[in-house]
Amino acid sequence: MLRLLIILLISVAFGDVNSELIRIPLTKFKTVRQSFIEVGTNTNIINTKYGPCPGNPVPEVLFNYMDAQYYGPISIGYPPQTFRVIFDTGSANLWVPSATCPYSNVACQLHNKYDNKKSVSYKPNGTAISIGYATGSMKGFLSTDTMSIAGLNIADQTFAEAVTEPGATFAAAKFDGIMGMGFNRISILNVETVFDNMLKQKLVEPKFSFFLNRDANDQYGGEMLLGGSDPAYYTGNFTYLNISRPAYWQFKMDYMEVGGAKFCNGGCQAICDSGTSLIGVPTALLGPIQKAIGAKKEGGLYQVPCNETSTLPNLNFSLGDKLFILEPRDYIVNLTNSVTKKVRCISGITGIDVPWPRGPFWILGDIFMGRFYTEFDKGNNRIGFADVKR
Ligand SMILES: *[C@@H]1O[C@H](CO)[C@@H](O)[C@H](O)[C@H]1NC(C)=O
Ligand SMILES: *[C@@H]1O[C@H](CO)[C@@H](O)[C@H](O)[C@H]1NC(C)=O
Ligand SMILES: *[C@@H]1O[C@H](CO)[C@@H](O)[C@H](O)[C@H]1NC(C)=O
Ligand SMILES: *[C@@H]1O[C@H](CO)[C@@H](O)[C@H](O)[C@H]1NC(C)=O
Ligand SMILES: *[C@@H]1O[C@H](CO)[C@@H](O)[C@H](O)[C@H]1NC(C)=O
Ligand SMILES: *[C@@H]1O[C@H](CO)[C@@H](O)[C@H](O)[C@H]1NC(C)=O
Repeated sequence: MLRLLIILLISVAFGDVNSELIRIPLTKFKTVRQSFIEVGTNTNIINTKYGPCPGNPVPEVLFNYMDAQYYGPISIGYPPQTFRVIFDTGSANLWVPSATCPYSNVACQLHNKYDNKKSVSYKPNGTAISIGYATGSMKGFLSTDTMSIAGLNIADQTFAEAVTEPGATFAAAKFDGIMGMGFNRISILNVETVFDNMLKQKLVEPKFSFFLNRDANDQYGGEMLLGGSDPAYYTGNFTYLNISRPAYWQFKMDYMEVGGAKFCNGGCQAICDSGTSLIGVPTALLGPIQKAIGAKKEGGLYQVPCNETSTLPNLNFSLGDKLFILEPRDYIVNLTNSVTKKVRCISGITGIDVPWPRGPFWILGDIFMGRFYTEFDKGNNRIGFADVKR
């Protein structure tokens, strides 16, 4: 058994091309991060349904840590050095800890580190890069090497070697680094994204899809399918929404209704972000939405009495003239304190303000993606949602 901290990730990248990216870990959830949780170690289950034929979709199996961090393996260099990364549709850069990080960097020391001296395919770049987060900055430098994901080899991928990690909270993270799946427009220093590089090398079709398993006790955490979508995980048809601005995976939302109260009335912008654990709403709406849900603030968290979970209202999201309904079991997160064994039932809605000109927008994170299988269709500049089979 491992004793680990929970980190609920909020990974919205603010900032234009060539300006600093600000990703906001969920500081409001300090009490959550401070509560120790015991979990077992997952073992990888390989999905071999798709063959290695060129152009076929390839599945990347994900781990699910406490429904809050979904990550999977990649490798960089030759011979391959492996890392666990979050596949984050809310940012566009790839970074992993660097073997050159100082001993004082605890987060780096506790994770897998890339050592360019041990890779024969390494190509130096050296340009300094900095990605800002609310807890601190990731600082490092660019390098280029071959990388591999889901059995595909990608030549000449430029990425950041992190020398300084974004704050002590990353020490407890189950993942080593982050691989951005957003558009190149939000890539710091305009580094070509991994997915664009894969498309340039004609490795897959221009789309990818996520299945996030919301059963944290299941060893199978989910799947990111590169090059297609997997009917094994969804029922019915996709509802597609055009991307309104190809930077984040951004689209128009018509409204969200809960307990008879309507929010985002008349329409607003939303993004789909696999790197954010919860659903982010503009902070001005947080109080009224929690009130409509029936959640009360206690110890910095909006909570509901656990025995009343099933009586709470649904969240009805209207997207592309279709209702996407989250039931209480979808949006209430149970957190167990391993010391006291006390279970708290927290509302999976949090307040995040993304300032103009990036925002404002709502952030549909893992809670939403866990209920709706999501296809990120770059070729057609659209995003599709379908019911997860369950
Ligand atoms: C380093 O990478 C950046 C981003 O891909 C590129 O613009 C720059 O030319 C590279 N510099 C060197 C010295 O290779
Ligand atoms: C999905 O779309 C197909 C073709 O448009 C249609 O025939 C079918 O009824 C749709 N299925 C559902 C569940 O809506
Ligand atoms: C989405 O974009 C496509 C292609 O540009 C266009 O034909 C279609 O009308 C758009 N749909 C909506 C709802 O705007
Ligand atoms: C949500 O949608 C369902 C199904 O259409 C409907 O029965 C329910 O009244 C809606 N709830 C709210 C709060 O709008
Ligand atoms: C969360 O707790 C509630 C109330 O104790 C329970 O009904 C529900 O099944 C739990 N959900 C999960 C995913 O464990
Ligand atoms: C939940 O528990 C509280 C306190 O134990 C009790 O007052 C309340 O009636 C219970 N609610 C339901 C729906 O059982």
